[in-house]
Formats: sequence, structure tokens, C-alpha cells
Amino acid sequence: MTTVVAGANGLVGSRIVARLVEAGERVLAVGRGPLRFDADVEYAQMDLLREPEKLAQLIESAPGGVINAAAMTDVDGCEKRPQEAWALNVRAVEIAALACSKAGTRLTTLSTDYVFDGVKGSYAEDDPPNPRGVYARTKRAGEEAALILAPDVAVCRVAVVYSGHPGAKKTFAATALESLRSGKPVKAFTDQVVSPTLADNAAEMVIGVHRSRAQGVFHCAGATEISRIDFCRALAGKLRADESLIVPVLLADLKLPAPRPLKCGLRVDKVRRLLGASLPLPLDAALDRFLAESRT
Ligand SMILES: NC(=O)c1ccc[n+]([C@@H]2O[C@H](COP(=O)([O-])OP(=O)(O)OC[C@H]3O[C@@H](n4cnc5c(N)ncnc54)[C@H](OP(=O)(O)O)[C@@H]3O)[C@@H](O)[C@H]2O)c1
Repeated sequence: MTTVVAGANGLVGSRIVARLVEAGERVLAVGRGPLRFDADVEYAQMDLLREPEKLAQLIESAPGGVINAAAMTDVDGCEKRPQEAWALNVRAVEIAALACSKAGTRLTTLSTDYVFDGVKGSYAEDDPPNPRGVYARTKRAGEEAALILAPDVAVCRVAVVYSGHPGAKKTFAATALESLRSGKPVKAFTDQVVSPTLADNAAEMVIGVHRSRAQGVFHCAGATEISRIDFCRALAGKLRADESLIVPVLLADLKLPAPRPLKCGLRVDKVRRLLGASLPLPLDAALDRFLAESRT
């Protein structure tokens, strides 16, 4: 059976593909433009904005399960281009869910901590979402499309993803690493508490949830809820870098176009019960793996 992985060039999608290939599974990777990382894998180029129906055809021709890690993840871009955000974060999920239903196959689709408003913090899967902003609202609508339309379905929420793999997209963590290593200042929010998630660890959890055939929503995030500034301090500690390079800022100071939740840590008890206590990595272990990835 072939697993279709959409969003194959992405931070998480690339690790899902790499891990499935390493496990000897047959994978059909789907991405925009050419494959951008090294893997011996069947690959289909597809622009989900222009030709989303191609995804349905592909799912129906290779009905061995679908993991969808494709999305419009540029939070401020979503605010400026809501139609694009809807097309990728809702319509493409709807198309995948309907195709999975027709083909009688499983759908696992990725979502975000931003489905919460960030008032309460430490969210469990059954806390009521209250998304703010176009990215968050379209991701929540995508969750609903998957949960309503696909008969065998899991939604895996990840958060503040980072990766040290060569060629991976620049993230907050990667920028902080670069700055701290080269003695440059790095700005970090003091007032946003998150569950930073190493992409490779997210991939392990998403694959685990997908294979388990468990239904519903799962938080596949890092095990440590922490402010962005303390995340930077932990990274600086690992690097023995000068902590005074970390410049405290408030989220509101940046006047970003899209709203961001303040306290949006995710509880990971449910995925621990499903996959084992050690799977969502605590920050210390995740940073060690991140630094090892960055040296490859
Ligand atoms: N990154 C985070 O911090 C974060 C936080 C919470 C939740 N999530 C969720 O995690 C999932 C995976 O995201 P990620 O972190 O891996 O982000 P990512 O690196 O931006 O991956 C998203 C993938 O979607 C692809 N894509 C975008 N537009 C497309 C189009 N028109 N046609 C085909 N493919 C298209 C992108 O292709 P290109 O590579 O060509 O751009 C990219 O490979 C998403 O559901 C996201 O909402 C991410």
C-alpha cells in the first residue's frame, strides 16, 4: 500500500516522507515544484491552488492512506490573501477528505495550536477552539472538513515548528540559532507561551497517530510549554552563548497584521497515552536533536 504525503517539501512533510521511506514504506510524495530534499521516493508535482482535483485523482488511484501536511502557513499572508488561505487550508482538505471517503482510505491532516484564542493556555484536545484571524479560522475550518467528511480520520495539531535539517525553511528557532552562534542580537517575545515542536518529532507522532487508526484530534506537539524568550534562553544555554544577546519584546510591540494567541501551549497527554510517554520530546531532548540536525 502506498501512503500519499501532501506538503512533502514542508518542514513537517519532508520529515514524514523521510521517516516513512526509512521505514521501508511505499510513499507517493506530493509537493509544489521539484522535490527539494534528498530522498529516494516517488514524487508528484502539484499546485493545490490551481489543480486541487489532481490530489483527489491521485488519492483514488493510490488508496493506501493520506497524510496532509500541505497548507498556507504564512500567518500574515493569509490575512492579506484570504482566498488563497481558504483554497489551501480548507478546500484542499475538503477535496482530500472526499477522495478518502470515496476510496475508503484513512486521512491524517495537520493543524495548529492557533485554533485556540490563547486566553486559557495549556489546551487539551477537547477544549473549545476559538480561532482568531484568517490563518487560524481557515485551519479550524479545515479540521472540520476533515472530521466531518472523512470516515477514518485524525487531525494532528502541531505548534511553532522548527527543524535543523539542511534546506529546511527558516524558522524562529533557526534564526535564533544563527544569531546566537554569530554573536548577533535576537528578539524574543516574553508574553507568548507555546509548545515548540521539532519537525522530526512531529513527524514521528503524526505517523504514529496515522498508523494507530485512532480517530479524532491529537496534539502532536513538543512536551514543554514555554515562553519564546525562555526557549531562546534554553537554546543559548545549550550553545553556551551570551544570554544578553536575547532582546525581550512584547508581541504587541511588533504590530503584526494577523492576531496571535498569547497562551497557546498544548497538552500532549492524549498522544502520550496512544503512542508512549517518551514520544512528545521535552524541550531539552528536542534541542539536542535540533543541534545534531544542524550539524549534518
Ligand atoms: N510551521 C509552524 O510553525 C506550524 C505551526 C502550527 C501548525 N502548523 C501546521 O503544520 C502543517 C505543516 O506545516 P509546516 O510547518 O511543515 O509548514 P511549511 O513548511 O510551510 O509546509 C507547508 C507545505 O505546503 C505546501 N504548499 C503551500 N502552498 C501550496 C500549493 N499551492 N500547492 C502545493 N503545495 C503547497 C508548501 O510548499 P512549498 O514548500 O513549495 O512552499 C509546503 O511544502 C500545516 O498544516 C501547518 O498549518 C505549522
